[in-house]
Amino acid sequence: MILSGSRSQSLAAALAAETGHELAGASRDRFPDGEQLVELDPPELDEAVVVASTVSDAAHVELLQLQDAAREAGASRVTTVLPYMGYARQDEAFEPGQPVSARAVARALSTGTDRVFVVEPHEPGVCEHFEVPAELVAPAGLLAEPLGDLTEPLFLAPDAGAADLAETVRDAYGRGAVDHCEKTRHSGSEVTVEPAGTGVGGRDVVLVDDIVATGSTMSQAIAGMAGDAASVTVACVHALFARDAYTKLRRAGVDAVYATDTVERPVSEVSVAPAVADRL
Ligand code: R5P
Repeated sequence: MILSGSRSQSLAAALAAETGHELAGASRDRFPDGEQLVELDPPELDEAVVVASTVSDAAHVELLQLQDAAREAGASRVTTVLPYMGYARQDEAFEPGQPVSARAVARALSTGTDRVFVVEPHEPGVCEHFEVPAELVAPAGLLAEPLGDLTEPLFLAPDAGAADLAETVRDAYGRGAVDHCEKTRHSGSEVTVEPAGTGVGGRDVVLVDDIVATGSTMSQAIAGMAGDAASVTVACVHALFARDAYTKLRRAGVDAVYATDTVERPVSEVSVAPAVADRL
């Protein structure tokens, strides 16, 4: 049976349809002090797949509750799917005195599950922090699906770290050039992006990254094209879209934006359900 975190309801339903598993209900209530109470329907189950993007601290707590509710309901095996794993970017103590937050949450989530699937974490090494078997799901090839007939396509990563993703999308699309820009991060929301060597003139450019958070990286990459591209599409796995990210992309001149449903946003038109279902 599929159990859904409140921030992953579309994906959980898509996964239920894809696998033929039943979708459990989970009602939520609040105690007077604000703490959440979750109640499964049905209250008994054999095996559970909990699907929950931990996009907020509340979503983390809710996932722990769902895992525990599954055990209470008699589940013999609990599988946890993290479409987007929060805190995965804090995979080291960047300054003395800081935690390795990815390790802290991975350990906590390990207590309530038998195995974990993490969809496209920013650092693949986070899987090593779980204390149960944990595997990656790599859905980037699915990002090629919505692309129409592109003219001289260029699959462009805004930094070297996303170059493999851009290549994966190009390979799935079947043709086109691949290149990457050079990014320098100055703060959480300030970056500079140097244009790639491949000229964008007259090309349909597809900018590919794992995450769009504030939108600074993508909007700087678009600015570097100086309006020379025939069109610019932004394709990402996780559309966090913090603050005014979407507006920033539009103001930068993007023609189309789409993402997967690991984080549920209006642009999340590509479902990772087939990629997750393959692994269950
Ligand atoms: C970092 O290297 C990631 O791959 C993304 O490029 C980054 O998270 C994007 O952040 P933002 O949208 O805030 O520039």
